Amino acid sequence: MRVPLLDLSEQYRALEAEIRAAIEKVLASQRFILGPEGETFEKAVADYCGAPHAIGVSSGTDALLAVLMALGVGPGDAVITSAYSFFGTGGCIARVGARPIFVDVDPSTFNLSSAALESYIDNRCRKSRGKLLNEKGETIRAIIPVHLFGLCCEMDSVHRISEQYQLDVIEDAAQAIGAEYLTAHMGLRRAGTMGEVGCFSFYPSKNLGAAGDAGLIVCRDAKLAEKLRIFRQHGMERRYYHRFIGGNFRLDEIQAAILNVKLPHLEEWSAARRAAADRYRNEFEQQGLTGKITLPAEPYRERGLTNHHIYHQYVIRAPRRDELREHLDKREIGTAIYYPLGLHEQECFAYLGYEAQQYVVNSIANFFE
Ligand SMILES: Cc1ncc(COP(=O)(O)O)c(C=O)c1O
Repeated sequence: MRVPLLDLSEQYRALEAEIRAAIEKVLASQRFILGPEGETFEKAVADYCGAPHAIGVSSGTDALLAVLMALGVGPGDAVITSAYSFFGTGGCIARVGARPIFVDVDPSTFNLSSAALESYIDNRCRKSRGKLLNEKGETIRAIIPVHLFGLCCEMDSVHRISEQYQLDVIEDAAQAIGAEYLTAHMGLRRAGTMGEVGCFSFYPSKNLGAAGDAGLIVCRDAKLAEKLRIFRQHGMERRYYHRFIGGNFRLDEIQAAILNVKLPHLEEWSAARRAAADRYRNEFEQQGLTGKITLPAEPYRERGLTNHHIYHQYVIRAPRRDELREHLDKREIGTAIYYPLGLHEQECFAYLGYEAQQYVVNSIANFFE
């Protein structure tokens, strides 16, 4: 049986008439950018996530970039994030002129390790006049936890550390819309709503995917939300008067209209992904494979959450990875490598001076060999 890694055609067939009608409506209105579809979508995502404010933007990358710009993160600053993520997470920090600090991950969840985060702060940073400074004297401004593959980070630890050192928490929830976490101080929350800001991507292959690029920011502070709206339009408040240097981070109406059709189905799609993950687990167990490969961890399964994982990807670890891939390939079963390198190993970040084999991220990669 052919099993492609991704096949969105069935989803499209089921919603084709509605999607086409939604696109037609935008075309008939001739309102293409920042219009009623975008506003409807912002409100619907804010409601779905339980966030006070939502700002539609052009992509997940632009969501992160706009947030860092609006928070005034720049040269002389540093931002801590996971060493194991999609490139955009680290790229945005460097693009605003700040230093990305790549902290190791927990090998069972692939998410930022709170122990490594604490160890970095305890051993490599100092407090000075209310600021947290790294060894280079740069100010640590924020932490970007990444909810990788659809599983929330250990946000209680991130929260405790961010409170202690007055750091902003910018959640990279690009892969985790709808994922839940039971916080100690706020009860059950959805990804993106546990820090100051949360960033989402609606890249077509995401659980909620557009027909092109699209993204969204949720945030709790009304003033920051207002600023982000200004930043997504070149820092322009009144037409052609620019208070800030922002960018073109606008969400277009056709994407928003498509996303408005899809959002009501997201819960059922996430449940179906979880059911598929359960089926894989059962099959692997029945075939006696669980000792040979490492299945995705489900640390929050027993905590009474529905979306304890939304399985954006079902990632296993396997020795002799490449042989396994070849074997599956021959049987037309699609796989991909998430991700071949840690961010600290990327060529463009060589200037940061990380040792290639410094982190457990590398042992994840080695495990695959
Ligand atoms: C963890 C993570 N961060 C950021 C992004 C960037 O999102 P986009 O591709 O919409 O720019 C992605 C998307 O691929 C992602 O997976």
